[in-house]
Amino acid sequence: MPVTASRLHGFTESVIRGMSRLANQHGAINLAQGFPEGNPPEALVEALERAARGPHHQYAMTWGAPRFRQALARKINRFTGLELDPDQNLVVTCGSTEAMMVALMTACNPGDRVIVFSPFYENYVADTILSGAIPIFVPLRAPDFCYDPEELRAAFAQNPKAIIVCNPSNPCGKVFSREELLEIGGLAEKHDAFVITDEVYEHIVFAPHVHTSTAALLGLFDRTITCNSLSKTYSITGWRLGFVQAAPAIIAQAKKVHDFLTVGAAAPLQEAAVTGLEFPDSYYEGLTNAYTRRRDVFLEGLGASGLTWTAPQGAYFVMVDVSPLGFASDVEATEWITREIGVAGVPGSSFFREPETRYVRFHFAKEEATLRLAGERLSLLKKNGYVR
Ligand SMILES: Cc1ncc(COP(=O)(O)O)c(C=O)c1O
Repeated sequence: MPVTASRLHGFTESVIRGMSRLANQHGAINLAQGFPEGNPPEALVEALERAARGPHHQYAMTWGAPRFRQALARKINRFTGLELDPDQNLVVTCGSTEAMMVALMTACNPGDRVIVFSPFYENYVADTILSGAIPIFVPLRAPDFCYDPEELRAAFAQNPKAIIVCNPSNPCGKVFSREELLEIGGLAEKHDAFVITDEVYEHIVFAPHVHTSTAALLGLFDRTITCNSLSKTYSITGWRLGFVQAAPAIIAQAKKVHDFLTVGAAAPLQEAAVTGLEFPDSYYEGLTNAYTRRRDVFLEGLGASGLTWTAPQGAYFVMVDVSPLGFASDVEATEWITREIGVAGVPGSSFFREPETRYVRFHFAKEEATLRLAGERLSLLKKNGYVR
């Protein structure tokens, strides 16, 4: 049999989906794969019904249905102040997952280096390798998951083609400050690199932290490629609607990559999602408040477990230090917690380049009642003497 491509040997199948399978097997509460529990807003479901009856069943324009891109440009303007041309600054993709692949294939030549902060969302390394580039890593160190500016400068000294910034960050919950983004942008400018940002959690940020869109910072628009999606903001991960946002010269190339990768995102879903993009500001406030409550409920429950963590500033994940449980690895600890305590997470090592085995990542995109139950189960760690 012929041998499969060597570029696939640089990464493994998603650990997250494997943990979801283990959760199902043991009837554990699945805090591994992070998708919102419950239905999307009723208005979106109704819009989907209407769209299904409308003339939206054939290919939409490859880089996005005009009505969707126009609504998207208005929504982006509302939150960032950017004046985007829906024809020249946007490509609609199948989720932010495709957007990141398009961004990297648009930015990189084979052999180029790409800076990835560690811990990282697992797609970044796979996507970098798939686009022929080579990831180089800069650690974000606990407890606050800040980078060391010296280490960042040293990484830029290797003349990377791009840096990927996940803001807010999955898995560590870091929200990059305006100052940090300006520092990263300044280095990107000095070394003529792209800043590729993943902003899928832009509306899930906990006060006093605020989300800053890199593209809206002075002087950074022309080198920033923003990847984003509607998945988390409207609780529609299954609709697979995302987008790449960048300067016209970049988008002209990105359109080609997207066209040959997927042709386009689903036409009826783009039509229906216009309704979401037109939701008033109060919708987004409600979303932030709901996730703030979920975070508080989960962290309160977690408090009774005797374990420690860094409170997330944004997104819906928390990295919990499970080293007091005394397992040889985080993989063993995670599997044991899934089996014996009934709460599934993801072994932290799958997000790190460094040999880091202290953490399990739990997500809290669940109903408050589910999170209370997870907290009760985790409190057994202390009650039963596994953690002192
Ligand atoms: C940081 C980050 N980026 C991208 C994605 C994928 O989003 P989408 O559903 O838009 O493909 C996720 C999903 O978990 C994520 O956590």
